[in-house]
This record gives sequence, structure tokens and C-alpha cells, in this order.
Amino acid sequence: MKTQLIDGKSFASNMTQKIALEVKQLQQEKNITPGLAVILVGNDPASEVYVRNKTKQTHRVGMRSFMHLLPETTTQEEILNLIARLNKDPDIHGILVQLPLPKGLNADTIIQAITPHKDVDGLTAYNTGKLALGHKDGFIPCTPLGCLMLLQKELSSLKGLHAVIIGASNLMGKPMAQLLLQEGCTVTIAHIHTRNPEKLARQADILIVATGCSELVKGSWISEGTTIIDVGINRITTKDNKTKLIGDVAFEEVLGKAAKITPVPGGVGPVTIACLLHNTLQAARNTIK
Ligand code: GUN
Repeated sequence: MKTQLIDGKSFASNMTQKIALEVKQLQQEKNITPGLAVILVGNDPASEVYVRNKTKQTHRVGMRSFMHLLPETTTQEEILNLIARLNKDPDIHGILVQLPLPKGLNADTIIQAITPHKDVDGLTAYNTGKLALGHKDGFIPCTPLGCLMLLQKELSSLKGLHAVIIGASNLMGKPMAQLLLQEGCTVTIAHIHTRNPEKLARQADILIVATGCSELVKGSWISEGTTIIDVGINRITTKDNKTKLIGDVAFEEVLGKAAKITPVPGGVGPVTIACLLHNTLQAARNTIK
């Protein structure tokens, strides 16, 4: 079987073109420019790259970007004070706190301080609850939303398919499960304590991997015809001392077995950012009386 690559880059590019038009329309008709505030604490190199990309794309679609780069020594109270200010600021429609936060900060307390109507990452208890209840008016976390959009484009129907998700994080695995359940999939979540995850993976019509473990999923885990969404972005150093991005799936090993796969880079990553802009546009539109 020839494995087809899922082109996230071009999907995201189509999405951002549409968003840019809608931003222009919102400015012309309602005099509103969507504004996104991003808080990055410390200097985790991977987070710096993500945040730089988010800022670049925010500007490209004509939105305003408010960057808050804070030193690693920033206290919990200082961050909570900043969020309280951003919650009240009418120029800001979306607030994102880049994760992970440095040790000593309580990520949950910080995330829950974001007012739900500016929570474009969809991580507050309010938006998490909306998703679990199937309400359509909350914000859905950007990475699982992007994965769902790619799956809907690539597969004619998701109903009745067995989706196996490896990784049970609040950012990805758990909301992904909720979304696929609502699409009529049979959902299995495997995690660090799961026995024999490879056996579950072989039963999957759709396999979604978000673990942060480079090439965890081997060729032997994959049955013929599976569609694979690889959410991992792992930076490694090659033998000739170059840095390279690889996924959570041993890409070369699954070629010829999987029906479709998202490459790393160029798969899920660009779609995640496009979904953040989609949510920010929605947050700005929600302010229209
Ligand atoms: N770190 C890695 N992915 C994400 C994301 O989608 N949102 C936030 N806030 N932090 C992240």
C-alpha cells in the first residue's frame, strides 16, 4: 500500500487565507481588530520557536499580537496580575499561556485565571466542560481541533471508526477523545500505564499519537490501512551534529503500511496555529453585541 502524506501546511495555508479575509471584513464592518496576547515564561527553546511562529502568523492574518516575554524568576502572583489586566483589556480577545511553565509555577491555577471568553486555548474548566457536554459555543483546544479538521478532510466519514489515541494530556489526548466520540468513533485512550499499547494500536482505523517520545510507535504497531496523525514534534541531534525535527512515529517504518500519515514537520503543527487564529477570530466576533 502506498502511504499518502497529509499536507497540513497547505491545509493551514488555505485556512489562514480565509481567516485573513474575515479579519479584514470585521475591521471594515465593525471596526474590531482581533488581538491575541501570548505569555511565555522562561526560555524553553521549543516554546520560543512555537511562540515566534504564532506571532508571525497572527500578524500575517492582520490580527494584533501582544507578546509578554517574562523571565523564569517571575512569580505566580505577577502572572496572575498580568492575566487579570489582560482579562479586562478590550483590545485583547484571546489569551494564551505557553506551556509548559517553569517549575514552581502552578500551571492549572494560572490557566484557570483566564476568563473563559478569552480562553482561545480551550483549557479552562468552563471550556473543557462545554466540550465534554457537546456544547458548540465553547473554545476547543487548538491541536485536537486541527487533528479533527485534517481527519474530516481526509476520511469521508468518521462514524464507527476505531480511533486509538496514545497520550492522555489535557492539551491533546483528552479533548481529542471527546471530539472523536462526538463524531461517532469508538475511542480508546492509551497512556503511560497502558499494557501492550502496540496491540491496541494494531486495532486502530485512526491512530493519533501525542506522547513527546521520539519514534515511540514502530512499524510493527501498524496494521495495513490505518490513518496516522503524528502530533509529536521532537528536536534531535543527528550523527553529523545537525538538529532535526522528528515525530512520535517511526515514519520510515510505517510507510507502505499506513494509508495516510501526517509528516513532521508540515503535518499537525501548522494546522494548530491556524486553529489558534480561528479561535481568536471567534473570540473577537463574540464581543459583537
Ligand atoms: N505547548 C505546546 N502546545 C501548546 C498549546 O497548544 N497551547 C499552549 N498554551 N501551550 C502549548
